[in-house]
Order: sequence, then structure tokens, then C-alpha cells
Amino acid sequence: MSSVLILGATSDMARAIARAYVKVGRSVILAARNPERLELDLVDLQVRAHVQARSVGFDVLDITHHGAFLDGLGELPGTIVCVVGGMGDQATSEREVAGAELVMRTNYVGPVALFSEAANRMATRGTGTLIGISSVAGERGRARNYIYGSAKAGFTVFLSGLRQRLAQAGTEVRVVTVLPGFVRTSATAGMTTPGMLTAEPKEVADAILRAESGGPETIFVRPIWRVVMAVIRALPESIFKKLRI
Ligand SMILES: NC(=O)c1ccc[n+]([C@@H]2O[C@H](COP(=O)([O-])OP(=O)(O)OC[C@H]3O[C@@H](n4cnc5c(N)ncnc54)[C@H](OP(=O)(O)O)[C@@H]3O)[C@@H](O)[C@H]2O)c1
Repeated sequence: MSSVLILGATSDMARAIARAYVKVGRSVILAARNPERLELDLVDLQVRAHVQARSVGFDVLDITHHGAFLDGLGELPGTIVCVVGGMGDQATSEREVAGAELVMRTNYVGPVALFSEAANRMATRGTGTLIGISSVAGERGRARNYIYGSAKAGFTVFLSGLRQRLAQAGTEVRVVTVLPGFVRTSATAGMTTPGMLTAEPKEVADAILRAESGGPETIFVRPIWRVVMAVIRALPESIFKKLRI
């Protein structure tokens, strides 16, 4: 079976995704800025499933080297999951353009650049799966996180257009958009989030595996988020701009 490349592999979500893939016999390549932080994860995965697991260095901001990064892996992976992202700090982003730029580059420019390189290679091969972790934050701009949200919105739209392009080109390359609401990870550890709206990383991983094997290509992880966002999107601006959500 073909390998799975997981970008942003130090995150709790990526860890759950890697475990889910090795469980079904897929070998994994874990990519992170500091791959030495992944040593325990590699041992854990190999003990769990006796499949190949290795780590590689990867910086999503280093866009001029993304092509060389992919070519350096040897065989092009069958599946690439981009977990890379980061909310940043909205207040900092409002004050300093450099803060906002980092959020935009981490959540939009970098992932788009990497997936563009990967998509062209997969299109030539004719098969593959690209899975992007976007966010419900990209469904409508909110005061508390609109820099992050706008970058995720861009990523969501990119994935939609890429999916259509690859389908119309007659390839069998699947593009999956993951739109989680709240997920219990180290990044949200200090936040109080409603239980019903908060998924575990394993739920994200299970939803991804279902999407990979023929399920819907746009997934909200917890279905309730589809309803919540439909309501939020439908609110008139006159009401929405008064809400503190
Ligand atoms: N948690 C939630 O409630 C939630 C909800 C919706 C969407 N999401 C999205 O889900 C994904 C994972 O989120 P999380 O909560 O697990 O957050 P996280 O722990 O902050 O994960 C972010 C990952 O991105 C990596 N990363 C950041 N900048 C990078 C760069 N320049 N190059 C390579 N990797 C880089 C981080 O690596 P380092 O360890 O090197 O920093 C980390 O592995 C993100 O895309 C996030 O936007 C999360």
C-alpha cells in the first residue's frame, strides 16, 4: 500500500491521524520543522502496527523548496495530509502586520504552495489523495479570529477549486477538505469549549479515513457543525455584527 505523508506531524491531530493510518496498514512519513521531536512517535507507531514509519524535516514557509522536498521523498506518497496551521494571536495580528502575515503564510500561502506542487505530480501519475485541514473559522469572518479565519477561508476555496480541476482533468486524485470546529488539542488546552461541539483528535482521524475511502470530500468532523455554520452564514450582517461569538 502507498505511503501517507503527514505535514505538521507534531500536533495532537496529526498523531491521531498517523495512528489511524498505520492501523489500516499504511506506512507513514511524518514531516515537521523539528523532526527530532518525533522519535517517540515513530517507535510508538512501529510497535502498534509493524509498518514503516519515518520522519523528515519540513517547513511550510520554505515554499521555494517544496518541489525539492517532495522529490527528495523518493516515491510520491499516495496520500498527503496537511495538518499545518496556527491561530496566532488576533490582537497581535491587528497591531503588527508581521504577525498577520505569519498567520496568512502558515495557514494559506504555505499549504497552497505545497499542495500545488503535489497536485501537479499526482495529476501526472493519475491517482492520489490530498487532505487539507482547514477550519469552520473560514466559513464566516468573526472579530475574534478573522485573520486566521480569512486564511483558512482561502485554503478552503483553494481546495474546492483544485478538486474541480483534477476531476475535470479526468484524474483519480481526491481532494478532501476537513472543516473541524473545536478539537481538543494542546493548542486549545486553555480554552473552555462546549462538549457537544468539541471533537477528540481521534474523531478527526476517523473522519479522514472514511473520506479517503470514498466518503464525502468535505467533512465537518462533528455533523452538528454543518448546521451551526449554516445558521451562522445565514445571519444578516445587521444581526451578525452585534453578536459576540
Ligand atoms: N484545535 C482546534 O480546535 C482546531 C479547529 C479547527 C482547525 N484546526 C486546525 O487543525 C490543525 C492542527 O491544529 P492543532 O490544534 O493540533 O494545533 P497545533 O498543535 O498548533 O498544530 C499545528 C501544527 O502546525 C505545525 N506548524 C506550524 N508552523 C509550521 C511551519 N512553518 N512548518 C511546518 N509545520 C508548522 C506545528 O508544528 P510545530 O510543532 O513545529 O510548531 C504543529 O504541528 C491546524 O491546521 C489548525 O488550524 C484546529
